[in-house]
Amino acid sequence: MEEKKIIFSGIKPSGNLTLGSYLGALKNWVDLSDEYNCYYCIVDMHAITVRQDAAQLRRRTLEQLAQYIACGLDPAKNTIFIQSHVPAHAELSWVLSCYTMFGELSRMTQFKDKSAKNADNINAGLFTYPVLMAADILLYQADLVPVGEDQKQHVEITRDIAHRFNSVYGEVFTMPEPFIPKVGARIMSLSDPDSKMSKSEQGGMGCICLMDSPEDIMRRFKRAVTDSDSCVRYDPENKKGVSNLMAIYSAASGKNFAEIEAEFDGKGYGDFKTAVGESVVELLRPIREKAEDLLKNKDYLVQIYRDGAETAAKAAARTLRKVYKKVGFVER
Ligand code: TRP
Repeated sequence: MEEKKIIFSGIKPSGNLTLGSYLGALKNWVDLSDEYNCYYCIVDMHAITVRQDAAQLRRRTLEQLAQYIACGLDPAKNTIFIQSHVPAHAELSWVLSCYTMFGELSRMTQFKDKSAKNADNINAGLFTYPVLMAADILLYQADLVPVGEDQKQHVEITRDIAHRFNSVYGEVFTMPEPFIPKVGARIMSLSDPDSKMSKSEQGGMGCICLMDSPEDIMRRFKRAVTDSDSCVRYDPENKKGVSNLMAIYSAASGKNFAEIEAEFDGKGYGDFKTAVGESVVELLRPIREKAEDLLKNKDYLVQIYRDGAETAAKAAARTLRKVYKKVGFVER
């Protein structure tokens, strides 16, 4: 039997997971569970590149774990773990930083954006963020890395680092490829359809979180930005708001764009927004309820993240041992 290909992906616990995280990432992760050997990480070490409140980070990390499972990720089929529980991430990251150039890190779009947004805290971690991400991916010899469009550059630099290391030491690392899902890849903000629905926009009218109440969800959809021609038609160039709502409705209801256009032919945006809101309420209801249940059972969550870290640590140790040997560290 052929070995399954390996998948690695992660999300920072720096905010609550959103409808965008679900449709753009988690839903696809679930579908990959059978075909691939998947590692899904909660990347808390990446989260602290921006200042976090300690109690809140701890709470969000556990909530994120509960939400991963509530979205359908089965801990029996996937390795689900917390990044800081596997020290090999930090260890490999140091070695790789010695094979990463200052110039390449300076060119990273996310670094430039984040340093503009956090001008009072442009720390070294923000700068070396892509090296830690390369360590995440390369430690598990991942073949595929499911990410959004915005993370493609980080997978590219991971390949460059891997290639540089391999050309000195032989085939140590598997060359990973970005794996960008076709559908639902990019859910935009409800209040500003030009920008991505983002965790950092939380509490705002543009963002739906997985744990939001049905009332909050409906209120936000009713106030979603559309346009002035009151025709439900898919045209992502000229009708960004409406097209984004159609993409959400399509993902939540399973209907295609032609069916949606027919359903709202001759009706106003009011009916349309209510229907989209209701479909999202029903989509998220079981996820919220399951996550709330799981959060009442701390012991179970602890068991899951400990088991996950144990499995991950074993795989990571194999790669790290090889790397340490190649660079000339004395075996302990
Ligand atoms: N940088 C990713 C993001 O902001 C999160 C991340 C960290 C990640 N390590 C990763 C994603 C490894 C994929 C693989 O979304």
